[in-house]
Amino acid sequence: MSKLSQRHLLGIKNITAQDIELIFETADTFKEVINRPIKKVPSLRDVTIANIFFENSTRTRLSFELAEKRLSADVVNFSASTSSVKKGETLLDTVNNILAMKVDMVVMRHASVGAPHFLARHIKANIVNAGDGTHEHPTQALLDTYSIREKLGGVAGKKVAIIGDILHSRVALSNIFALQKLGAKVMVCGPPTLLPKFISSLGVQVELDVKKALEWCDVANVLRIQLERQQIKYFPSLREYSLYYGITKRTLDNLKKQIVIMHPGPINRGVELSSDAADSPHSIILDQVENGVAVRMAVLYLLAGAA
Ligand code: CP
Repeated sequence: MSKLSQRHLLGIKNITAQDIELIFETADTFKEVINRPIKKVPSLRDVTIANIFFENSTRTRLSFELAEKRLSADVVNFSASTSSVKKGETLLDTVNNILAMKVDMVVMRHASVGAPHFLARHIKANIVNAGDGTHEHPTQALLDTYSIREKLGGVAGKKVAIIGDILHSRVALSNIFALQKLGAKVMVCGPPTLLPKFISSLGVQVELDVKKALEWCDVANVLRIQLERQQIKYFPSLREYSLYYGITKRTLDNLKKQIVIMHPGPINRGVELSSDAADSPHSIILDQVENGVAVRMAVLYLLAGAA
């Protein structure tokens, strides 16, 4: 099989394990390409891609833009904060105006759950969800699971603990779907107020004690506290959160086995992870970022039907 089962990447929930394996195999090839002195291939020449970001981003936006340029696509970038959205233009009007300029693919980040799904129902271009509210962040989950595969030689049977603010995290949900499709065992850990009520129905283990979660897992994917999505107080203070859930190098050194530390970024250093843990040999955080470019190249290449 050399084609994805979907023409959009809206989430991990609606793609198959075979799709994920195909993306990984394609990313292996592109990872080799981006480590060559000449990092560019002509695969998406004459394809125009618009990166439409209605929410802030550093890694995802740069990573998509680099992936597109490494594939020789033409790239246009749109940031809501400097656009006519500020004058009241709707999402559909904004996107239709961009598409009228003959854009083939849209990479979109939006604060509203389902915004890319809405677009996919109304426009012909391929859509890639670069994060929709607290829902899904599929390329983050793909690069996270790809990084586990690279570091541990596979994902099936591995124990992965997702630790932190699960309630507000699109990274958590997409990772749960991707890890389960690939046969990993998944645990979520955090304060009870930051765990969604429905979480057990997803077939994950739930643990409130971070030390027990770290003792259990092979990989800890540590998430930041998403203060920008919290209208009420879910815990007394960041200091208290850090005291009970913060992971330091000493915590890691005291475990009976060596575990891998991941973080999707941005890190709140000194809150969920201390600097000595984030920068320790346990951490593959910058490998995740490197792999993000290769994985996004694979997604764009496959969605464009170039395979
Ligand atoms: N991991 C992630 O989505 O980071 P950005 O918000 O910087 O894109």
